Amino acid sequence: MDMRFSIYRYNPETDAEPCMQDYQLSGITSGMMLLDALKRLKAQDETLAFRSSCGEGVCGSDGMNINGRNGLACITPLATLKQPVALRPLPGMPVIRDLIVDLDNFWRQYREVQPWLVREDPIPEVELRQSPQDRDRLDGLYECILCACCSASCPSYWWNPERFLGPAALLQASRFIEDSRDQATEARLDRLDDAYKVFRCHTIMNCADVCPKGLNPSQAIGNIRQRMLKQFV
Ligand code: SF4
Ligand code: FES
Repeated sequence: MDMRFSIYRYNPETDAEPCMQDYQLSGITSGMMLLDALKRLKAQDETLAFRSSCGEGVCGSDGMNINGRNGLACITPLATLKQPVALRPLPGMPVIRDLIVDLDNFWRQYREVQPWLVREDPIPEVELRQSPQDRDRLDGLYECILCACCSASCPSYWWNPERFLGPAALLQASRFIEDSRDQATEARLDRLDDAYKVFRCHTIMNCADVCPKGLNPSQAIGNIRQRMLKQFV
């Protein structure tokens, strides 16, 4: 089977402006994923630029806008896509080249929420134990692969990318706020108590709609707000 693609092309160093370039691919077989097609297109045109690594929905590196919806190319079956398949970089993020976006701000915000356990008590030599019930509280939070599909689908993040932390970083903040082994909950909530960092979320829910791992950052943000209310009221 043949398939048609329309792919965003832009090299800020050489192109005056972006354009959509048409491609055609033959020999598409059932079960092929979008990333397979992109790799074959790159074999035809080595100037086409995109990120990928694991090919299995684990590393989060091939997030892109696929027919108007953010997702991972490696787990998107070609059979589900209307033609021509329109591929664009994740919206609202600076383009480095073609489908590759600059994630520096995204990673800065990830670091800002301190995505590690903070302990005042000494770390036990063998293990830091947690009850099964406390461990269950992390379900729906720890599975995030930091693909940025959620943050790049959020209008509030498009308008305030520097000041609103965005769904991905806030889901990570919640993951450590909810962790019974962490001893910095109060300080974490204090740092998030800002008109923009959390409160620019307007519960639009695009984040939960696009997350390839089925997570719900919007709910995690709601949980942070509830924890803030309990702490500060
Ligand atoms: Fe990607 Fe989902 Fe994590 Fe957002 S919450 S970064 S969409 S895995
Ligand atoms: Fe790793 Fe798609 S290539 S998630």
